[in-house]
Amino acid sequence: MAPPHDERMKTMQTRRITKKDFDEIVEVIDRWWDGPINTFAHPIFFYELGEQALAIEDDGQLIGFLLGFIAHEGSGPSEPARTGYVHLVGIHPEYRRRGVGRRLYDSFTDVCVRAGCERLKAITTLGNEGSQRFHLALGWDACEIDDYAGPGRKRIVFTRDLGGVQSAPAREEA
Ligand SMILES: CC(C)(COP(=O)(O)OP(=O)(O)OC[C@H]1O[C@@H](n2cnc3c(N)ncnc32)[C@H](O)[C@@H]1OP(=O)(O)O)[C@@H](O)C(=O)NCCC(=O)NCCS
Repeated sequence: MAPPHDERMKTMQTRRITKKDFDEIVEVIDRWWDGPINTFAHPIFFYELGEQALAIEDDGQLIGFLLGFIAHEGSGPSEPARTGYVHLVGIHPEYRRRGVGRRLYDSFTDVCVRAGCERLKAITTLGNEGSQRFHLALGWDACEIDDYAGPGRKRIVFTRDLGGVQSAPAREEA
């Protein structure tokens, strides 16, 4: 019999990704996403931007990942503030709806708060209802923007203001 939800959460660990994780992500991603998406796992997200890329494992097995980075002031016309950007997140299909995505986002939020970010940002396509429901459940704001990704390419843009959010160690000390 599978251990109860809380017991399973205790065996899960979030950490920065390794090259071995990245290789595994590239191999599983099309299956986890149910379609061809592996070009989104560009090596730049490990070699150049890997400091904010996270893996989550359960008993040594990779069960989720988050490829993100920090957009610094002035690094893009729409990034006026230091922004923690989630490029791609994926959870193993057999581990969904167990709080794994929430836990990865909490860890990424901590990394970003400690790095002085003022907000978080992510985007998704209109058809990705799971992603939309997930971000809204986590308290992010959503905005549909026409032509965001080019002519006729609408996207849902999610943001979360980090004003007043403390990192986990600061919360524990308070
Ligand atoms: C979207 C995704 C990352 C969510 O991960 P997850 O580990 O299943 O999410 P959690 O269990 O932490 O969910 C937290 C809350 O979000 C909401 N939620 C998550 N997935 C949902 C879904 N498919 N439908 C409706 N609500 C959803 C729920 O309110 C959930 O809380 P609950 O289970 O207590 O009701 C995961 O489904 C996934 O990898 N999908 C495929 C890839 C993808 O779409 N990535 C996002 C775009 S970059």
